[in-house]
Amino acid sequence: MDSQNTYWQDRAALEWQVELGVTDAILDAPLDRYDLDPVPAKPAPVAEMAPAVVQAADPVAIARAAAEAAPDLPALATAMAAYELCEIKRGARNAVFADGQPGARVMIVGEAPGREEDRAGKPFVGQAGQMLDRMLAAIDLGRAHADKDRAVYITNVMPWRPPSNRTPDADEIAMILPFLERHISLADPQFIVLMGNTPCQALLGQKGITGLRGNWTEVLGKPCLPMFHPAYLLRNTAAKREAWADLLALNARLKT
Ligand code: URA
Repeated sequence: MDSQNTYWQDRAALEWQVELGVTDAILDAPLDRYDLDPVPAKPAPVAEMAPAVVQAADPVAIARAAAEAAPDLPALATAMAAYELCEIKRGARNAVFADGQPGARVMIVGEAPGREEDRAGKPFVGQAGQMLDRMLAAIDLGRAHADKDRAVYITNVMPWRPPSNRTPDADEIAMILPFLERHISLADPQFIVLMGNTPCQALLGQKGITGLRGNWTEVLGKPCLPMFHPAYLLRNTAAKREAWADLLALNARLKT
């Protein structure tokens, strides 16, 4: 094939990809992420491993060691970005770590990034995020609030967008939980708000947001309030009444 031919074929292939929506070239050569081995090196049979190595092959133990070694939030973000054992990461464009003000009195924990968040690398920037911002503004809170006492810090259980926005499964939540717990310890909020079922499952070991919402509980020794997820409120406007009651309860605690 002469070089002229290759040029036009390459150009047609590129134009086709642009039509499909490709906007960035990340690598020089194509990489099929679905074809990668989740565990970089094939592990030796368990019987031949030293006890410490057996433990190190456990995705939860690896996550815990990486999370605990992070001395601050930027180091934690780097450690999470380097964690390769969660399948969900393979389809994600960006890791979504947090937004708002670290050190804020209120830390909000959502489920996982959606399409907009995956693109922006920030939590809660799509429709549900705009709803969240309106909810917070109703009690004079905000991620960029000028008054540090009224600022919030926002993260998700899962830092990567799950394929087709599916709910992360129990194994995926278990392996990411050490990072989330370390995130809460380092951000050190006074109050935690859990938005929807997934953060309740991760941090309380309980599901059933309709029964959990509005009932203060504790996470890592901190007062914690489960609430309906803003995306749920967009679909079920009647539930806004309960959400408003929960926001008022949070506001009352902030005045103590
Ligand atoms: N829903 C979430 O739970 N988190 C986001 O960041 C966006 C939507």
